[in-house]
Parts: sequence; C-alpha cells; structure tokens
Amino acid sequence: MARAKTQFVCSNCGYISARYLGRCPNCGQWNTLVEEKIVPEKVVNRKARVSLAGKTARPQKISDISGNELPRVKTGMDELNRVLGGGIVPGSLVLIGGDPGIGKSTLMLQVSGQLTEHGGSVLYVSGEESANQIKLRADRLGVGSDDFIVYPETDMEQIKTVIGQMQPDYLVVDSVQTMQEPDLQSPIGSVAQIREVTADLMQIAKSNAITVFIVGHVTKEGAIAGPKILEHMVDAVLYFEGDANYKYRILRTVKNRFGSTNELGIFEMRDHGLREVANPSEIFLEERLKGATGSAITASMEGSRPILVEVQSLVAPTVFGNAQRVTTGVDRNRVAQILAVLEKHSNLLLQNQDVHVRITGGVKIDEPAADLAIALAVASSYHEKPTRFTDVFLGEVGLGGEVRSISLIEDRLKEIAKLGFNQAIVPKNNLSNIDLPQGLKVTGVSTIEEALEIGL
Ligand code: TYD
Ligand code: MG
Repeated sequence: MARAKTQFVCSNCGYISARYLGRCPNCGQWNTLVEEKIVPEKVVNRKARVSLAGKTARPQKISDISGNELPRVKTGMDELNRVLGGGIVPGSLVLIGGDPGIGKSTLMLQVSGQLTEHGGSVLYVSGEESANQIKLRADRLGVGSDDFIVYPETDMEQIKTVIGQMQPDYLVVDSVQTMQEPDLQSPIGSVAQIREVTADLMQIAKSNAITVFIVGHVTKEGAIAGPKILEHMVDAVLYFEGDANYKYRILRTVKNRFGSTNELGIFEMRDHGLREVANPSEIFLEERLKGATGSAITASMEGSRPILVEVQSLVAPTVFGNAQRVTTGVDRNRVAQILAVLEKHSNLLLQNQDVHVRITGGVKIDEPAADLAIALAVASSYHEKPTRFTDVFLGEVGLGGEVRSISLIEDRLKEIAKLGFNQAIVPKNNLSNIDLPQGLKVTGVSTIEEALEIGL
C-alpha cells in the first residue's frame, strides 16, 4: 500500500499501460515501455498556463478573420527555408529530431547566427553543453553577434523567467530531453517531463509570438523517450538524418502545418559547419564507376524536386543456409517482390543467390517509381552486364511483369536532361500528352522483359 504507484509509458507513441509489456500494443514496437511514477493530480494541475493566444482569444466569425499569408522569415540557408515551406513562420514551434551527433546543435547554432544577422535576437538554451563549449563551437562557425544569448540551464522555471525578461524573437532549446519541470516528480528525460516541457514551450511560443526550435534526440532502441510523442504538439517536425560516417546530412519534413511534408534539404558536414548542397543529383552520382555491373540510375521525387540516385545491386551465390536479401535505403519487401517478378517473368534464378540492394549516398527511397531501376540493377549484376552509363530508368513494376506508369514524369525527365543523360527508359503509358525535354531520348516500355532488353 505504501509503494509509490507506477505506470509504464511507451517512449515511442506515449501509450500508457498499468503493467510492463515487452511489446507496445499500440505502435507494435518492442522494449519501448519505460516505468514512471504516477504523478499526483495536484502536481500535474499546474497554474502557470496561459491561454493559447494570450488575452485576445475569443470566438469570432470566420469572415471577420484576416487570412493574410503568414509572413516568413528567411534563414540564410535555402535548403532549410524550403524544408520549412518557404521560411520560418514567426511564433511557430519547430521540432528538430535526429540521432545524437548528427549535427542538430551545429545546425541550430548556424541558423541562430543567421537570424541575428537579420536583426533578430536569439536565446539559445543548452542543457547539453557548457557556455564555454558553445563559445568554442560558435567561433568555429563564425557566430558571434551581441543578439545571440547563450544560456546553459535545464530548469524550466528559470528559463521561463529569463524568456520573460529578455523577450527574444527566437528561442532554441537544446535538447528537450535535458530540460526539467522542477515541480514534476518524474525524472529528466521521462515521457511526462518531455511532454510538460513541450507544453510549456508551446504556451511560450503562442502567447509571446516567439519562434521556438526544440532539439530532440531519437534513439533507435527507444530507450529514452523519443520526440515522436511530441509530434502532434508542435507545428513542424524536421528530422535530420544521415550516417554519422557520411558527410551528407538530409533534413526531412515529417510534419508541417505551414507547408508540404516530405520536403528535403541536403547539407554537407564540413570543418566549419554545415554547408547546403544545391545540386544533390550531381553529388549522389559523382562516385559512380563507369562500366560497373549492378548499377542503375533513377530519378526519385523527394518532396517537390526530383533527385537522381544510383541503385546498386550485388548478386552472389549463397555460401550456406538461406539466401540473404539485404537492402539499404529501400524497403526489403519491395525488393523481395521485384525479385519474385524477375524470377517468374525474366528467368532469373535467384533462390540460391544472395541479393544486396542499396541506394548510394545514404538516400532512402520509398516510391514505386524506383522499381524498374532496382530490377535493372539486380539483373545487371546477375547477368554481369552493365547498364549504359547514360541511361536512366523510371517505372513501377507490377506483379504481372508489367511496367506501370508513375507520377510527375515531366519533372523527372527535366532533371534527367539537365544532368546530361542520353536516354530515359520509362513506362509506355506515361508517354501520351507529355512535353519531352530537348536532347533526351525517351523510350517507352510496357514490360520488364522489354526494359531488360533495351537496358542491358
Ligand atoms: P552536433 O551538432 O553536436 O550533433 P547533435 O547536436 O545532433 O548531437 O554535431 C556533432 C558532430 O559534427 C561531431 O561529430 C563533429 C561534427 N562537426 C563537424 O564536422 N564540423 C563542424 O564544424 C562542427 C561544429 C561539428
Ligand atoms: Mg547537440
């Protein structure tokens, strides 16, 4: 009876259970439930809440509300502006998630520097690094304005007081996992803490028109409460991805109340911080080997723009046990389906072959338009015949071996032509009523058979 009551909260989706479960019944993830004290009601009912829109919130006719386009503040990085839907919306709450060490703090420091250059004031609250460490890094990145205030603190009450006094235009909280509401008994980094801290930050953003950037670590194991549980509370969620061993970083929109999702910005990690990459296609293709087998190029839509990527495949006899299917950057089941189609309709014997498929440059592809390039890469490795260096493959592969039409073909062809490729092999059904770019041969195919014949 005297035992403190606890509950188990899923750190991935926030599901609450009275007892420990190995697998979250809500989101299906394993080992994500963490134990937490149940906080007495009177502590949770905290007084410091302000109404969402300050004192001015009232019901009004929709016709009386001015619906002006939201003004945007441009950062100095076009890649970031695009990912945000055209720039920062003042008073919005933006979550930047990503693995530890991927470059979130670096990005926020650089953006802060740019915002102060345009006359904004920034309060950078860090619970991870000392003022000294931040200074060293800021010097390296060339950030040094008087309007850039660094505040190493984790106590939300103190932070709120400083925000009230300083009234900054922008607030950066790095990271949400290190912040603490002192009147909440749950430990730092717990689901309850993270949720309350974010709720507080939301109040601050909305009632003072301060733009808030929240940095959150994501761990694959879900051992610490991840920012996933916050996604519904914030206006925009950006994920910073990429292998820490790679120099390229991809900033992806997962949610955006003020713009489209699935936008993507590409950065390169340099000695002096992140640099935007304006022409990603060239970079993803720059290390291609001429005449190599198992390689095929496709144009993948990443948000509103097409990016050319290389699909690589290696087909090799299985040494022992079951044949392996290993994929990087593309769904394994998708590849398995394409392999089945190749077996059935193109006479490739793959049962006793290990098949590796990867997208180079750390890119992830999840659209069917890349199917044909995957099929070509696999067949190319299997037959040890290279595809032509100047061909690009577009098309969805159906289970009947047919090549099905894809979306946004004109945008893709334009990018392909721009990069100097000679031929695009595309679904025949896509060819009616489209404008073909100059200087590019566009060949329609209706089956995978035909595509292999032309492509290899
Ligand atoms: P950081 O921004 O600290 O990552 P996060 O906040 O997401 O945990 O980035 C750390 C990595 O970036 C670290 O491995 C060093 C590297 N880095 C550079 O390569 N160049 C730079 O100019 C900076 C500041 C960091
Ligand atoms: Mg950091």
